[in-house]
Amino acid sequence: MKVSQAIESRMSVRAFTQQPVPVETVKRVLEKSARTPSGSNLQPWRMVIITPEKLAELNALMEKRLAGEAHPKGDNQEYQIHPDNLKEPYRTLRFEVGEDMYSLLGISREEKPKRRQWFANNFKFFGAPAAAFCFVDRIMGPPQWSDLGMYLQSAMLLFQEEGIDTCPQECWAMYPKTIHEFCQMPDELMLFCGMAIGYKDKTHPVNKLKSKRLNSKAWLKIL
Ligand SMILES: Cc1cc2nc3c(=O)[nH]c(=O)nc-3n(C[C@H](O)[C@H](O)[C@H](O)COP(=O)(O)O)c2cc1C
Repeated sequence: MKVSQAIESRMSVRAFTQQPVPVETVKRVLEKSARTPSGSNLQPWRMVIITPEKLAELNALMEKRLAGEAHPKGDNQEYQIHPDNLKEPYRTLRFEVGEDMYSLLGISREEKPKRRQWFANNFKFFGAPAAAFCFVDRIMGPPQWSDLGMYLQSAMLLFQEEGIDTCPQECWAMYPKTIHEFCQMPDELMLFCGMAIGYKDKTHPVNKLKSKRLNSKAWLKIL
């Protein structure tokens, strides 16, 4: 597969088949991804692969955690997922991708409980058979966090090359303490995000979502 094909075909997949992804495959891809560049070669990504047994345990834990909560309450967050009061064009972009997704799911704006129910699927990795978490040392700042992004994109493209789909998930940042404890991580590390890993359920409407992109005029200047 060409890099262009991997970039074009990758999308955030939010419904998976039960076809398993061997832990060795996930490990191989995550190891290959470590060729990602990083400032001063700090390689700040710290990854955890969740094996199927542990995934079943985590799914059960999260189900219990979310039971009876109208909206996931979460732990005390360690970083803010978005700035408060997003300005334009970010606000509209966020709104549009949400509306496009709920429209494919046939859930209207008024059906808040259904929307919340769908959102809660995040916390079972959308039914993916494999998963990973990305942590970073608390001393690291924006430059190293950007290295994490590059690492995760390398991983997602290499998964594409293997025919495997993914969904990066920063919603897990709502549960930093729960996931930190579950993964038995040292105190100096903090959670950035999770990643659902598996094979796309091609029959599910949510996977028909082709997210839009801004025209390059909005973000590209040629001087
Ligand atoms: C760091 C990061 C975190 C994300 N977190 C979530 C998440 O928690 N839940 C979710 O459904 N999608 C999540 N996404 C997916 C984005 O919504 C998606 O990348 C964006 O809408 C563009 O769509 P595409 O990935 O299909 O191209 C995340 C993406 C990134 C890069």
